[in-house]
Amino acid sequence: VEAVTLAVVSAGLSQPSSTRLLADRLSEAVRDRLVEAGREVRTEHVELRELAHPIADNLVTGFPGEALRHAIETVTGADAVVAVSPIFSASYSGLFKSFFDVLEQGALGGKPALLGATGGTARHSLALDHALRPLFAYLRAAVVPTAVFAASEDWASAEQNGLRQHIDRAADELAAVLLRQPARTRRPDAFADVVPFEQQLAALKLP
Ligand SMILES: Cc1cc2nc3c(=O)[nH]c(=O)nc-3n(C[C@H](O)[C@H](O)[C@H](O)COP(=O)(O)O)c2cc1C
Repeated sequence: VEAVTLAVVSAGLSQPSSTRLLADRLSEAVRDRLVEAGREVRTEHVELRELAHPIADNLVTGFPGEALRHAIETVTGADAVVAVSPIFSASYSGLFKSFFDVLEQGALGGKPALLGATGGTARHSLALDHALRPLFAYLRAAVVPTAVFAASEDWASAEQNGLRQHIDRAADELAAVLLRQPARTRRPDAFADVVPFEQQLAALKLP
């Protein structure tokens, strides 16, 4: 049985990043549930901060460089995506949007996804519903009902204020979706026994 792969896209700019922290808390909570259910999990992080230049280049040239291509393949090839953006000017950040802009159309179709956002104020938590959700609806991802917002003050008392419960509920939902899907089994390599073309040509003994 193949491991469940989780692609964790994080668009924070600060170092350390509260967006990355939320992304980690979410993906760890999902992983714990899958491991508890007996599944192996592979978590792959995509830090958009490190890809800011390649993403801008791709917007202009239409081509992803090597690093961005790898990140895109990680996300499109994963069983599920955890995507977390900082809230800038009451919406997702430009970097977050630009990464999803460079994906091929349909690349996230049907993909289970969990959304999160961080902000300076809890007053902007609805940005999850008025900005991130419509974006992922357009991308046709299968977003779980609970999306998680963490404002700066939430980190101070994460156990008391409900952030922990929100993370748990969102992780329950994504894990349930993934556990309902049949586990992918490793397919034998179709090209393992292929005779190299030069060898086939040589065997023809052409004049
Ligand atoms: C340009 C800019 C605009 C921002 N706009 C908002 C905003 O509209 N609402 C909000 O709650 N926080 C806003 N913030 C605060 C960030 O969302 C918050 O600091 C975020 O958690 C930073 O994430 P990071 O630590 O991963 O970089 C803004 C920050 C920046 C730099």
